[in-house]
Amino acid sequence: MNAPIPFLDLRQPTAALRGAIDGAIARVLDRGQFLLGPEIAGLESEFAAWCGARHCAGVASGFSALQLIVRACGIGPGDEVIVPGNTHIATWLAVAATGARPVPVDPEPATRVIGAAGVEAAITPKTRAVFAVHLYGMPCDMPALGDLCRSRGIRLLVDAAQSAGAAIGGSRALCHGDAAAYSFYPTKNLGALGDGGAVVTDDPEIDAAVRLLRNYGMRHFADHPMRGVNARMEELHAAVLREKLRWLDDWNDRREAIARRYLGRLSAMPGTVAPAWPAGVRHAWHLFVIEVDDREAVRARLDAAGIGTAVHYPVPPHRTAAFAGTGPFPPLPVTDRLASRVLSLPLHPFLDTAEADRVMDALADAVRGEAR
Ligand SMILES: Cc1ncc(COP(=O)(O)O)c(C=O)c1O
Repeated sequence: MNAPIPFLDLRQPTAALRGAIDGAIARVLDRGQFLLGPEIAGLESEFAAWCGARHCAGVASGFSALQLIVRACGIGPGDEVIVPGNTHIATWLAVAATGARPVPVDPEPATRVIGAAGVEAAITPKTRAVFAVHLYGMPCDMPALGDLCRSRGIRLLVDAAQSAGAAIGGSRALCHGDAAAYSFYPTKNLGALGDGGAVVTDDPEIDAAVRLLRNYGMRHFADHPMRGVNARMEELHAAVLREKLRWLDDWNDRREAIARRYLGRLSAMPGTVAPAWPAGVRHAWHLFVIEVDDREAVRARLDAAGIGTAVHYPVPPHRTAAFAGTGPFPPLPVTDRLASRVLSLPLHPFLDTAEADRVMDALADAVRGEAR
Protein backbone atom coordinates (compact mmCIF):
# COMPACT_ATOMS: atom_id res chain seq x y z
CA MET A 1 0.00 0.00 0.00
CA ASN A 2 1.41 3.37 -1.01
CA ALA A 3 1.62 6.19 1.55
CA PRO A 4 -1.48 8.41 1.54
CA ILE A 5 -1.27 11.69 -0.36
CA PRO A 6 -2.87 14.40 1.79
CA PHE A 7 -4.54 17.37 0.13
CA LEU A 8 -1.92 19.59 1.75
CA ASP A 9 0.69 19.16 4.49
CA LEU A 10 1.75 22.50 5.92
CA ARG A 11 4.76 20.96 7.64
CA GLN A 12 6.46 20.64 4.26
CA PRO A 13 7.17 24.31 3.39
CA THR A 14 8.18 24.96 6.99
CA ALA A 15 10.55 22.00 7.03
CA ALA A 16 12.09 23.04 3.69
CA LEU A 17 12.94 26.51 5.02
CA ARG A 18 13.36 25.65 8.69
CA GLY A 19 16.78 27.28 9.13
CA ALA A 20 15.71 30.53 7.47
CA ILE A 21 12.44 30.60 9.42
CA ASP A 22 14.22 30.03 12.73
CA GLY A 23 16.58 32.87 11.82
CA ALA A 24 13.69 35.19 10.93
CA ILE A 25 11.93 34.50 14.21
CA ALA A 26 15.16 35.04 16.15
CA ARG A 27 15.63 38.39 14.39
CA VAL A 28 12.28 39.60 15.67
CA LEU A 29 12.76 38.23 19.18
CA ASP A 30 16.16 39.86 19.46
CA ARG A 31 14.83 43.20 18.25
CA GLY A 32 11.84 43.25 20.59
CA GLN A 33 9.55 45.13 18.20
CA PHE A 34 6.48 43.11 17.39
CA LEU A 35 4.09 45.33 15.39
CA LEU A 36 4.51 47.79 12.50
CA GLY A 37 8.28 47.54 12.52
CA PRO A 38 11.10 46.98 10.04
CA GLU A 39 10.07 43.45 9.00
CA ILE A 40 6.71 44.76 7.82
CA ALA A 41 8.33 47.68 6.02
CA GLY A 42 10.74 45.20 4.38
CA LEU A 43 7.96 42.85 3.34
CA GLU A 44 5.91 45.74 1.98
CA SER A 45 8.65 46.99 -0.30
CA GLU A 46 9.72 43.50 -1.38
CA PHE A 47 6.18 42.32 -2.07
CA ALA A 48 5.29 45.54 -3.92
CA ALA A 49 8.35 45.05 -6.14
CA TRP A 50 7.48 41.40 -6.72
CA CYS A 51 3.92 42.40 -7.67
CA GLY A 52 5.04 45.23 -9.93
CA ALA A 53 3.08 47.71 -7.78
CA ARG A 54 3.99 51.08 -6.28
CA HIS A 55 2.58 50.44 -2.80
CA CYS A 56 1.92 47.57 -0.44
CA ALA A 57 0.46 47.79 3.05
CA GLY A 58 0.64 44.73 5.30
CA VAL A 59 -2.53 43.98 7.26
CA ALA A 60 -3.84 41.34 9.64
CA SER A 61 -5.61 39.08 7.10
CA GLY A 62 -7.02 38.83 3.61
CA PHE A 63 -10.39 39.77 5.05
CA SER A 64 -8.93 42.97 6.54
CA ALA A 65 -7.33 43.77 3.18
CA LEU A 66 -10.66 43.37 1.35
CA GLN A 67 -12.60 45.42 3.85
CA LEU A 68 -10.06 48.21 4.12
CA ILE A 69 -9.84 48.59 0.34
CA VAL A 70 -13.60 49.14 0.16
CA ARG A 71 -13.48 51.65 2.99
CA ALA A 72 -10.41 53.38 1.54
CA CYS A 73 -12.40 53.99 -1.64
CA GLY A 74 -15.11 55.70 0.39
CA ILE A 75 -17.66 52.97 -0.36
CA GLY A 76 -20.25 52.13 2.31
CA PRO A 77 -23.94 52.18 3.18
CA GLY A 78 -26.26 52.68 0.19
CA ASP A 79 -23.59 51.58 -2.30
CA GLU A 80 -23.46 48.40 -4.35
CA VAL A 81 -20.36 46.35 -5.08
CA ILE A 82 -20.48 43.65 -7.74
CA VAL A 83 -19.04 40.32 -6.54
CA PRO A 84 -18.83 36.83 -8.05
CA GLY A 85 -21.57 34.37 -7.12
CA ASN A 86 -18.88 31.74 -6.64
CA THR A 87 -16.17 32.85 -4.28
CA HIS A 88 -14.98 32.40 -0.72
CA ILE A 89 -17.66 33.98 1.44
CA ALA A 90 -14.99 36.43 2.71
CA THR A 91 -15.41 38.56 -0.44
CA TRP A 92 -19.11 39.06 0.28
CA LEU A 93 -18.64 39.48 4.03
CA ALA A 94 -15.99 42.16 3.58
CA VAL A 95 -18.28 44.22 1.34
CA ALA A 96 -21.23 43.73 3.70
CA ALA A 97 -19.09 44.70 6.71
CA THR A 98 -18.66 48.19 5.23
CA GLY A 99 -22.45 48.62 4.93
CA ALA A 100 -22.36 48.28 1.13
CA ARG A 101 -24.44 45.61 -0.62
CA PRO A 102 -22.74 42.73 -2.44
CA VAL A 103 -24.47 42.19 -5.81
CA PRO A 104 -23.62 38.80 -7.30
CA VAL A 105 -22.78 37.98 -10.90
CA ASP A 106 -22.51 34.48 -12.33
CA PRO A 107 -19.03 33.44 -13.51
CA GLU A 108 -18.19 32.37 -17.04
CA PRO A 109 -18.54 28.57 -17.14
CA ALA A 110 -15.12 27.79 -18.65
CA THR A 111 -12.88 30.07 -16.59
CA ARG A 112 -15.17 30.07 -13.50
CA VAL A 113 -14.38 33.78 -12.94
CA ILE A 114 -16.57 36.78 -13.74
CA GLY A 115 -16.33 38.49 -17.12
CA ALA A 116 -17.15 41.93 -18.48
CA ALA A 117 -20.50 40.93 -20.08
CA GLY A 118 -21.96 39.61 -16.82
CA VAL A 119 -20.64 42.56 -14.85
CA GLU A 120 -22.00 45.11 -17.30
CA ALA A 121 -25.51 43.66 -17.02
CA ALA A 122 -25.40 44.02 -13.20
CA ILE A 123 -24.31 47.68 -13.06
CA THR A 124 -26.92 50.04 -11.58
CA PRO A 125 -26.73 53.73 -10.62
CA LYS A 126 -25.71 52.56 -7.12
CA THR A 127 -22.75 50.48 -8.30
CA ARG A 128 -19.50 51.93 -6.99
CA ALA A 129 -17.08 49.05 -7.58
CA VAL A 130 -16.52 45.58 -8.97
CA PHE A 131 -14.65 42.99 -6.90
CA ALA A 132 -12.92 40.74 -9.39
CA VAL A 133 -11.83 37.51 -7.68
CA HIS A 134 -9.01 35.60 -9.39
CA LEU A 135 -10.51 32.39 -8.06
CA TYR A 136 -8.26 29.33 -7.73
CA GLY A 137 -5.42 31.49 -9.13
CA MET A 138 -7.09 32.13 -12.50
CA PRO A 139 -7.02 35.86 -13.32
CA CYS A 140 -10.19 37.54 -14.59
CA ASP A 141 -10.06 39.30 -17.95
CA MET A 142 -8.64 42.50 -16.45
CA PRO A 143 -8.19 44.46 -19.71
CA ALA A 144 -11.92 44.05 -20.50
CA LEU A 145 -13.03 44.71 -16.91
CA GLY A 146 -10.71 47.72 -16.70
CA ASP A 147 -12.17 49.26 -19.88
CA LEU A 148 -15.71 48.68 -18.61
CA CYS A 149 -15.09 50.11 -15.13
CA ARG A 150 -13.28 53.18 -16.48
CA SER A 151 -16.08 53.88 -18.95
CA ARG A 152 -18.70 53.63 -16.17
CA GLY A 153 -16.70 55.58 -13.58
CA ILE A 154 -16.55 52.75 -11.04
CA ARG A 155 -13.65 51.15 -9.20
CA LEU A 156 -12.11 47.84 -10.24
CA LEU A 157 -11.02 46.10 -7.04
CA VAL A 158 -9.39 42.69 -6.82
CA ASP A 159 -9.60 39.81 -4.39
CA ALA A 160 -6.17 38.32 -5.04
CA ALA A 161 -6.25 36.01 -2.01
CA GLN A 162 -5.73 32.97 -4.24
CA SER A 163 -3.65 34.49 -7.01
CA ALA A 164 -0.15 35.40 -5.80
CA GLY A 165 1.91 35.19 -8.98
CA ALA A 166 -0.92 35.35 -11.55
CA ALA A 167 -0.14 37.48 -14.59
CA ILE A 168 -1.71 38.50 -17.89
CA GLY A 169 0.59 38.92 -20.89
CA GLY A 170 3.53 38.68 -18.51
CA SER A 171 2.23 41.49 -16.28
CA ARG A 172 1.38 40.90 -12.63
CA ALA A 173 0.55 44.60 -12.33
CA LEU A 174 -2.33 44.14 -14.77
CA CYS A 175 -3.99 41.79 -12.27
CA HIS A 176 -4.42 44.44 -9.57
CA GLY A 177 -7.05 46.91 -10.82
CA ASP A 178 -7.26 49.97 -8.57
CA ALA A 179 -6.23 47.92 -5.54
CA ALA A 180 -5.82 44.24 -4.73
CA ALA A 181 -6.25 42.30 -1.50
CA TYR A 182 -3.82 39.44 -0.85
CA SER A 183 -4.22 36.80 1.84
CA PHE A 184 -1.26 35.13 3.53
CA TYR A 185 -3.47 32.51 5.20
CA PRO A 186 -1.20 29.47 5.79
CA THR A 187 -2.49 27.44 2.82
CA LYS A 188 -2.03 30.23 0.25
CA ASN A 189 0.78 30.25 -2.34
CA LEU A 190 2.57 32.67 0.00
CA GLY A 191 1.41 31.53 3.42
CA ALA A 192 2.28 32.84 6.87
CA LEU A 193 2.50 30.87 10.11
CA GLY A 194 -0.91 32.32 10.95
CA ASP A 195 -3.07 35.11 9.55
CA GLY A 196 -1.80 37.92 7.34
CA GLY A 197 -2.71 39.94 4.29
CA ALA A 198 -1.73 42.92 2.17
CA VAL A 199 -3.22 45.68 0.06
CA VAL A 200 -1.32 46.25 -3.18
CA THR A 201 -2.04 49.40 -5.21
CA ASP A 202 -0.53 52.08 -7.41
CA ASP A 203 -2.87 54.67 -5.87
CA PRO A 204 -1.14 56.65 -3.09
CA GLU A 205 -4.48 57.74 -1.62
CA ILE A 206 -5.76 54.19 -1.21
CA ASP A 207 -2.41 53.17 0.30
CA ALA A 208 -2.44 56.07 2.75
CA ALA A 209 -6.05 55.40 3.79
CA VAL A 210 -5.36 51.69 4.36
CA ARG A 211 -2.32 52.55 6.50
CA LEU A 212 -4.48 54.78 8.67
CA LEU A 213 -7.46 52.43 8.83
CA ARG A 214 -5.34 49.40 9.85
CA ASN A 215 -4.16 51.21 13.00
CA TYR A 216 -7.32 52.76 14.52
CA GLY A 217 -7.36 55.55 11.93
CA MET A 218 -4.61 57.15 13.99
CA ARG A 219 -1.71 59.28 12.75
CA HIS A 220 -0.42 59.59 16.29
CA PHE A 221 -2.01 59.60 19.73
CA ALA A 222 -3.47 63.08 19.27
CA ASP A 223 -4.63 62.78 15.67
CA HIS A 224 -7.52 60.49 14.62
CA PRO A 225 -8.80 61.60 11.21
CA MET A 226 -10.98 58.50 10.68
CA ARG A 227 -12.59 55.59 12.51
CA GLY A 228 -10.18 52.79 11.87
CA VAL A 229 -9.83 49.26 13.19
CA ASN A 230 -7.05 47.08 14.50
CA ALA A 231 -5.89 45.24 11.39
CA ARG A 232 -2.15 45.36 11.98
CA MET A 233 0.21 42.70 10.71
CA GLU A 234 2.66 41.11 13.12
CA GLU A 235 6.43 41.40 12.72
CA LEU A 236 6.90 37.65 13.24
CA HIS A 237 4.66 36.90 10.29
CA ALA A 238 6.29 39.53 8.09
CA ALA A 239 9.77 38.19 8.89
CA VAL A 240 8.77 34.64 7.93
CA LEU A 241 6.91 35.80 4.81
CA ARG A 242 10.04 37.59 3.61
CA GLU A 243 11.96 34.31 3.73
CA LYS A 244 9.19 32.48 1.87
CA LEU A 245 8.83 35.22 -0.76
CA ARG A 246 12.33 34.36 -2.01
CA TRP A 247 10.98 30.94 -3.02
CA LEU A 248 7.60 31.93 -4.39
CA ASP A 249 8.57 32.02 -8.07
CA ASP A 250 10.16 28.57 -7.83
CA TRP A 251 7.16 27.25 -5.93
CA ASN A 252 4.74 28.68 -8.50
CA ASP A 253 6.80 27.15 -11.32
CA ARG A 254 6.47 23.79 -9.61
CA ARG A 255 2.71 24.28 -9.25
CA GLU A 256 2.52 25.02 -12.98
CA ALA A 257 4.54 21.92 -13.89
CA ILE A 258 2.18 19.70 -11.90
CA ALA A 259 -0.86 21.45 -13.39
CA ARG A 260 0.53 20.83 -16.88
CA ARG A 261 1.00 17.15 -16.07
CA TYR A 262 -2.53 16.88 -14.69
CA LEU A 263 -4.00 18.64 -17.72
CA GLY A 264 -2.21 16.19 -20.02
CA ARG A 265 -3.85 13.26 -18.28
CA LEU A 266 -7.28 14.90 -17.98
CA SER A 267 -7.46 15.60 -21.71
CA ALA A 268 -7.95 11.86 -22.16
CA MET A 269 -10.08 11.19 -19.06
CA PRO A 270 -13.83 10.99 -19.75
CA GLY A 271 -16.12 12.11 -16.95
CA THR A 272 -13.96 15.05 -15.89
CA VAL A 273 -13.88 18.74 -16.82
CA ALA A 274 -10.42 20.26 -16.51
CA PRO A 275 -9.75 23.87 -15.52
CA ALA A 276 -9.38 26.33 -18.41
CA TRP A 277 -5.96 27.88 -19.00
CA PRO A 278 -6.28 30.67 -21.57
CA ALA A 279 -3.27 31.61 -23.71
CA GLY A 280 -1.20 34.48 -22.31
CA VAL A 281 -2.33 33.82 -18.74
CA ARG A 282 0.03 32.93 -15.92
CA HIS A 283 -2.29 30.94 -13.67
CA ALA A 284 -1.18 30.92 -10.02
CA TRP A 285 -2.52 27.35 -9.63
CA HIS A 286 -3.43 27.95 -6.02
CA LEU A 287 -6.03 25.23 -6.42
CA PHE A 288 -6.45 22.61 -9.13
CA VAL A 289 -10.20 22.31 -9.48
CA ILE A 290 -11.91 19.84 -11.77
CA GLU A 291 -15.61 19.15 -12.27
CA VAL A 292 -17.11 15.69 -11.99
CA ASP A 293 -20.70 14.42 -12.18
CA ASP A 294 -21.01 12.33 -9.05
CA ARG A 295 -18.67 14.29 -6.82
CA GLU A 296 -19.35 12.69 -3.46
CA ALA A 297 -18.87 9.18 -4.85
CA VAL A 298 -15.66 10.17 -6.66
CA ARG A 299 -14.40 11.85 -3.51
CA ALA A 300 -15.14 8.79 -1.39
CA ARG A 301 -13.28 6.52 -3.81
CA LEU A 302 -10.27 8.86 -3.82
CA ASP A 303 -10.37 8.94 -0.05
CA ALA A 304 -10.39 5.13 0.04
CA ALA A 305 -7.33 5.23 -2.25
CA GLY A 306 -5.56 7.54 0.20
CA ILE A 307 -5.88 10.71 -1.90
CA GLY A 308 -6.96 13.83 -0.02
CA THR A 309 -9.33 16.25 -1.77
CA ALA A 310 -11.32 19.36 -0.89
CA VAL A 311 -14.32 21.29 -2.22
CA HIS A 312 -14.05 25.03 -2.95
CA TYR A 313 -16.92 25.73 -2.31
CA PRO A 314 -19.91 23.50 -1.57
CA VAL A 315 -22.34 26.32 -0.61
CA PRO A 316 -22.18 29.62 -2.52
CA PRO A 317 -22.62 32.76 -0.39
CA HIS A 318 -26.15 33.50 -1.67
CA ARG A 319 -27.28 30.09 -0.34
CA THR A 320 -25.82 30.58 3.16
CA ALA A 321 -27.78 31.47 6.28
CA ALA A 322 -25.40 34.43 6.65
CA PHE A 323 -26.91 36.10 3.57
CA ALA A 324 -30.47 34.82 3.94
CA GLY A 325 -32.94 37.65 3.52
CA THR A 326 -30.41 39.99 1.91
CA GLY A 327 -31.57 39.31 -1.67
CA PRO A 328 -33.34 39.09 -3.98
CA PHE A 329 -30.46 37.60 -5.89
CA PRO A 330 -30.47 37.08 -9.64
CA PRO A 331 -30.47 33.46 -10.83
CA LEU A 332 -26.91 32.13 -10.56
CA PRO A 333 -27.08 28.83 -12.48
CA VAL A 334 -23.35 28.53 -13.19
CA THR A 335 -22.50 29.19 -9.55
CA ASP A 336 -25.04 26.62 -8.35
CA ARG A 337 -23.83 24.04 -10.85
CA LEU A 338 -20.19 24.53 -9.87
CA ALA A 339 -21.04 24.19 -6.16
CA SER A 340 -22.32 20.67 -6.77
CA ARG A 341 -19.55 19.57 -9.15
CA VAL A 342 -16.18 21.09 -8.22
CA LEU A 343 -13.45 18.97 -6.69
CA SER A 344 -9.99 20.23 -5.70
CA LEU A 345 -7.07 17.81 -6.15
CA PRO A 346 -3.72 17.93 -4.32
CA LEU A 347 -1.43 20.49 -5.94
CA HIS A 348 1.42 22.16 -4.10
CA PRO A 349 5.15 22.67 -4.60
CA PHE A 350 6.11 19.62 -2.53
CA LEU A 351 4.07 17.10 -4.51
CA ASP A 352 6.50 14.94 -6.47
CA THR A 353 5.90 13.63 -9.98
CA ALA A 354 5.23 10.06 -8.84
CA GLU A 355 2.62 11.34 -6.40
CA ALA A 356 1.01 13.50 -9.08
CA ASP A 357 0.78 10.43 -11.34
CA ARG A 358 -0.78 8.43 -8.51
CA VAL A 359 -3.41 11.15 -8.05
CA MET A 360 -4.32 10.89 -11.73
CA ASP A 361 -4.33 7.06 -11.71
CA ALA A 362 -6.65 7.06 -8.71
CA LEU A 363 -8.88 9.72 -10.28
CA ALA A 364 -9.18 7.71 -13.50
CA ASP A 365 -10.34 4.70 -11.45
CA ALA A 366 -12.64 6.84 -9.31
CA VAL A 367 -14.52 8.37 -12.24
CA ARG A 368 -14.86 4.90 -13.78
CA GLY A 369 -16.45 3.82 -10.51
CA GLU A 370 -13.66 1.58 -9.28
CA ALA A 371 -11.93 1.73 -5.91
CA ARG A 372 -8.16 1.44 -6.12
C1 LIG B 1 -10.98 34.26 -2.42
C2 LIG B 1 -10.67 34.54 -0.98
N1 LIG B 1 -10.94 35.77 -0.49
C3 LIG B 1 -10.67 36.10 0.78
C4 LIG B 1 -10.12 35.19 1.65
C5 LIG B 1 -9.91 35.61 3.07
O1 LIG B 1 -8.57 35.63 3.43
P1 LIG B 1 -8.15 35.47 4.98
O2 LIG B 1 -8.51 34.09 5.39
O3 LIG B 1 -6.69 35.74 4.98
O4 LIG B 1 -8.92 36.50 5.75
C6 LIG B 1 -9.82 33.89 1.19
C7 LIG B 1 -9.25 32.82 1.99
O5 LIG B 1 -8.91 32.64 3.03
C8 LIG B 1 -10.09 33.58 -0.16
O6 LIG B 1 -9.82 32.36 -0.64
